[in-house]
Amino acid sequence: MLRKQEANIFEKITSLAKRRGFIYPGSEIYGGLSGTWDYGPLGVELKRALKERYWKTMVRDRSDVVGLDASILMNAKVWEASGHVTSFSDPLVECKKCNSRFRADKLDPPMTKEMEVSGQPTCPQCGARDWTPPRQFNLLVETQLGAVEGEKQKTYLRGEITQGVHVNFKNVVDSTRVKIPFGIAQIGKAFRNEITPGDFTFRSREFEQMELQFYIKPEETEGKKWFEYWKTERMRWYRELGMKKDNLRFHEHAPDERAHYARAAFDIEYRAPDGEWREMEGIHHRGDWDLSRHSEFSKQDLSYFDEEEKARFLPWVIETSGGVDRATLFLLMDAYREEKLENGEERVVLKLHPRLAPFTVAVFPLLANKPKLVQCAQEIREALQQAGFRVAWDDRGNIGKRYRYQDEIGTPRAVTVDFQSIEDETVTLRDRDSMKQERVAIKELPEKIKDMVEEE
Ligand code: GAP
Repeated sequence: MLRKQEANIFEKITSLAKRRGFIYPGSEIYGGLSGTWDYGPLGVELKRALKERYWKTMVRDRSDVVGLDASILMNAKVWEASGHVTSFSDPLVECKKCNSRFRADKLDPPMTKEMEVSGQPTCPQCGARDWTPPRQFNLLVETQLGAVEGEKQKTYLRGEITQGVHVNFKNVVDSTRVKIPFGIAQIGKAFRNEITPGDFTFRSREFEQMELQFYIKPEETEGKKWFEYWKTERMRWYRELGMKKDNLRFHEHAPDERAHYARAAFDIEYRAPDGEWREMEGIHHRGDWDLSRHSEFSKQDLSYFDEEEKARFLPWVIETSGGVDRATLFLLMDAYREEKLENGEERVVLKLHPRLAPFTVAVFPLLANKPKLVQCAQEIREALQQAGFRVAWDDRGNIGKRYRYQDEIGTPRAVTVDFQSIEDETVTLRDRDSMKQERVAIKELPEKIKDMVEEE
């Protein structure tokens, strides 16, 4: 049984995210647009830090992965070839009484074609039990290009970022020194006309993905080896971001759960505070689905020639496909704590990893109306910014309130400049998690903060 505190963390995170500038509802002043979200000043830093971490681990620190940034708009034939035009769909049902639409498989109990009316779920909106039969609803977002009415070209906003990589496979092989096995990583936006967007950013209509398409020889042993390798690597990555081990697990897809392109699939799932395990990243064995379909539809030879083995083949692909927005949401949930302090007060603290926190350190002059303190604090802020840290500044209200604010946005360290600082060039350095304070020489600050980021 979940404690009350855990059960409503979803709502608390949504509220904190808006209150403190992490995530706002999209187009809010016009009544919003369902399934869209805007990242505020803190959210954009958190998300950017996450993506930088991804790029460092998956591209820069490796010699067998290169990067790519393909366009969102692609020739419509890409989506015919990839199977998305025919197979990228979810089962939709409509309540005949109130006309609300739902994903049939997400109702309680899930609605199937064969179900007797008495066993069918009731409508979450109006309570009726009067449904249209489930029908497949395509998730691709259509758009049109061109200025001349009647001659506009229909295309789609990409439903996954994957296809931009596969259509460039030959370009990358021909223009770089890559040799199989190798991967192409990409981060970018994808769009899906989700039937029921919801649970904050969890199911959005516009979201970001971080993906790797790893090309291997088309052999069963290679497939098994690399599939296991990437499962382990990706789970390790989430653990290194500081996510709690107990909140992470693998879920293997049964054959009828798999996407149309997958021969095998595992999800990395996160246990949300409501107790539900939710998908954060998918690891898929795509076989030669993409390259063979694009060869067929484009009439281009996308095979690979292996110089060492003097053999030509269509490579297989192991894919790791993570959601940037989902990982950001789960990081916020994982970091969220409500603590009772010794003095009886309560504090909310986001125990984000120092590498990801929107600000690494905050700098405060004790009093905003003392120019010497302000100047000294500004110099420290500039020095820390120069050293590459993300630095918050706050000179409003009492110090206790400023600490609480920084706790709530996850800033791991806070530096306070007081009168003693002017005399002996030391400051107070406060630790977000232990709330302990120590006196530190100003010149030692960059090193101390660097150690903290690297060690934690
Ligand atoms: N290329 C494979 C692919 O797109 P997917 O399982 O459909 O696979 C990968 O999506 C990841 O993208 C998911 O694990 C999830 O993190 C994220 N994702 C998918 N749909 C999403 C949505 N509607 N809103 C937010 N994130 C989504």
